Amino acid sequence: MSSYLIRNGRIVTATESYIADLLIEGERISHIGTDLKESLNESLNDYVEVDATGKYVFPGFIDPHVHVYLPFMGTHAKDTYETASKAALIGGTTTLIEMCCPSREEDPWEAFQLWKSKAEGVSACDFTFHMGISRFDDNTEAKLRRIVDAGITSWKVFLAYKGFFGVDDSELFKTLELASRMGIIVTAHCENESMIAELQKRLLSEGKTGPEWHESSRPIQVEAEGVQHLMTFAEMTKAKVYIVHTSNDLAIEAALRGKARGVDVSVETVIPYLVLDASYAQQPDFEGAKYVMSPPIRSKDQQPKLWQHLRQRNIATVATDHAPFDFTGQKEMGRDDFTKIPNGIPTVEDRVNLLYTYGVRRGQIDLNTFVDCASTQAAKLFGLFPRKGTIAVGSDADIVVYDPAYRGIISAKTHSMATDYSAFEGWAIEGKPSHVWVRGKLQVEEGKFKGDMRHGQFLRRTVQ
Ligand code: URP
Ligand code: ZN
Ligand code: ZN
Repeated sequence: MSSYLIRNGRIVTATESYIADLLIEGERISHIGTDLKESLNESLNDYVEVDATGKYVFPGFIDPHVHVYLPFMGTHAKDTYETASKAALIGGTTTLIEMCCPSREEDPWEAFQLWKSKAEGVSACDFTFHMGISRFDDNTEAKLRRIVDAGITSWKVFLAYKGFFGVDDSELFKTLELASRMGIIVTAHCENESMIAELQKRLLSEGKTGPEWHESSRPIQVEAEGVQHLMTFAEMTKAKVYIVHTSNDLAIEAALRGKARGVDVSVETVIPYLVLDASYAQQPDFEGAKYVMSPPIRSKDQQPKLWQHLRQRNIATVATDHAPFDFTGQKEMGRDDFTKIPNGIPTVEDRVNLLYTYGVRRGQIDLNTFVDCASTQAAKLFGLFPRKGTIAVGSDADIVVYDPAYRGIISAKTHSMATDYSAFEGWAIEGKPSHVWVRGKLQVEEGKFKGDMRHGQFLRRTVQ
């Protein structure tokens, strides 16, 4: 593997920002300093120089909530690891944490092997999984212990999608109890399933069948109730919990109340909630279906509240919840009934550029917060730090050289994700990764994927 000397860029971590050179040797960062070429002199041989003058040098971004292989709502998510990992890297994301989501009928160990097999040998970026728990019976503990021993130290529960992914309250209680004993962090989709089912039924009976009614079937109170519910269980079990895709202030306040009572809780939001609003799902001719995800995209007044919580660091991470379905043939399954529209928005390629453009460039967050919420916090919460999530000697050389002078447009015509549409078609971006390394391997050069489609590795984690 070549060595790389990245010269004169502005290195930005969650806490620092300074101009320096950085040397990559093998899979790791070996030196950081000014004038490395001169100071290392004779010991430097056979390296490739990359001029990063005027550019940022960020740690590789981590997306802690993606779906790639996902059997869901009568269909399968569209991406494969070939398309998703390439798209992730072009967009600056070097590690994916995928939700392994078995149904209630599947064996957890076999499901883990299945999800892993979809990525191994075909991923261009590094990856690991949150293990979904959709049933808790007498055999579950032994199976989960085996999965933890295999390197998976975070779990996922759904308080929604009952009968498919969802767990009931006694299963939730047992899952959190075990997680607490084992030191596992449990990520949770928080929505009250019974309220959703009742509201969906009422809306459909009134002839309200279009995608514009999706939000009314899952209002912010339904999500806040889910968070409140989780807080009660986490308080009693002392489990460490992480609320995925939080869309509104009511839900965040429920988490903060839990925190004030001593619950170890972290909050994730996802990029669609920060930049889109409910009007997108109200577009005519079924266009709104492109914006159906759960929890739903909220009213515009939620955006400044979410940015404020992000600045205050009440929101720890900005993920994607990348869940890619085509418009043609997949979203269309719900033409006559919004409850049948596959939930999800393809975003893995766009998260970093949207967060930089509409967050940093618009003055919503500073550069350190940007790195913290899109990389460092995920690494810390999910057992990857300091190997990932920062720029330090000895850390993996997962590096993004980011060009803030780039100006471009997002389009499905040019994206690498497999979907036939982009939820951000025609949106301007003001910045883009020019070079991206994964463990010392240059995967993206001048904004184009030039790397090795098999370079990505499964990241084995241990309980901290
Ligand atoms: O709409 C969503 N979020 N789709 C993916 C599945 C999930 O709930 O995370
Ligand atoms: Zn979810
Ligand atoms: Zn999800």
